[in-house]
Amino acid sequence: MPALTNRQVRLESRPIGEPKPEDFQVAEAPIPAPGDGQVLSRTIYLSLDPYMRGRMNEGRSYAASVDLGQVMVGATVGEVVESRYAGLAQGDLVLGYDGWQEYAVSQGASLRKLDPRAAPISTGLGVLGMPGMTAYVGLLDIGRPKPGETVVVSAAAGAVGSAVGQIARIKGCRAVGIAGGPAKCDYVVKELGFDAAIDYRAGDLFTALKHACPNGIDVYFDNVGGDILKAVLRQINRGARIPLCGMISQYNATELPPGPNLAPLLGNRALIQGFIISDHVDRMREFLRDCAEWVRTGRLKYREDIVDGLEHAPDAFIGLLRGKNLGKLIVRVAPDPTR
Ligand SMILES: NC(=O)c1ccc[n+]([C@@H]2O[C@H](COP(=O)([O-])OP(=O)(O)OC[C@H]3O[C@@H](n4cnc5c(N)ncnc54)[C@H](OP(=O)(O)O)[C@@H]3O)[C@@H](O)[C@H]2O)c1
Repeated sequence: MPALTNRQVRLESRPIGEPKPEDFQVAEAPIPAPGDGQVLSRTIYLSLDPYMRGRMNEGRSYAASVDLGQVMVGATVGEVVESRYAGLAQGDLVLGYDGWQEYAVSQGASLRKLDPRAAPISTGLGVLGMPGMTAYVGLLDIGRPKPGETVVVSAAAGAVGSAVGQIARIKGCRAVGIAGGPAKCDYVVKELGFDAAIDYRAGDLFTALKHACPNGIDVYFDNVGGDILKAVLRQINRGARIPLCGMISQYNATELPPGPNLAPLLGNRALIQGFIISDHVDRMREFLRDCAEWVRTGRLKYREDIVDGLEHAPDAFIGLLRGKNLGKLIVRVAPDPTR
């Protein structure tokens, strides 16, 4: 018997600095009905991702803000409840962008059908979804690692960083992760097989990097910006490549911090390039082919940090920006029928 109302998490106010629970509102709405070509789905998993912090702000970014009173945006894995789209039937499992709510109507053509026999459906939000593809495209197309080179990645225990280091290893590189705290550092070395890990909270990052990267740094996959980027830039090799993926250290900043000194880029003829994964959908086929195979054969491992209950999404998201998650942060909104 399906629920009669649709619980949602809406943006109540725009945070100044770190988001607070009061910036979100849990509310109820009627369950919408699908029109022609549309599908009603029930959310099973909701992805929580750092970019959502930017959507809470007003003003210009590479994507539109969430309006006050609107449902927070986000990728979801759901089950089709009612379909008026020929390509999907009731009971199908789909990857969509339904946001922080229990039910949503979307265009059938915008959904990707998931095969639960190929991989757990939650992986569509992580290692076989947007974060995994960000790691794959950013590292291979912009970082262009060559065997024997040293690849450093920050937020190394997270959804993107954990895949970056493992793909670097698959490509024959030395992988060095930077993460917050000994548990995350242990995880990336002992479970994921990175060559070394550095706890940036332990202090003297510059010296720790020097020890972990005796041959310098050829690729720095930057997920955080700030002081970590500053320390890395001072140790890059000639011709280094820096895919600029994220700046999470400043997502809650109320004023932009001073930038790093760029002189090492000039002297080393290095490349630094920002990228947004949604510009690279043309690489989806190769990404899924390679990463699905690496996951299946155990060469690409992943961890999911699963929080139960839509009402806990705000706290979990606040925790993400503090580094509380280990692995891909996902909210289980309803039981997973495939597990
Ligand atoms: N360019 C794109 O298209 C694209 C796509 C996806 C993601 N991204 C970016 O990639 C980065 C990682 O995303 P993700 O999904 O993999 O998230 P995640 O790593 O699973 O979670 C975020 C992690 O960031 C770290 N962090 C938080 N505050 C920090 C700070 N002040 N300094 C250093 N590290 C901090 C925390 O790990 P520690 O405990 O280790 O600090 C936290 O666990 C984010 O910057 C995100 O915006 C970009």
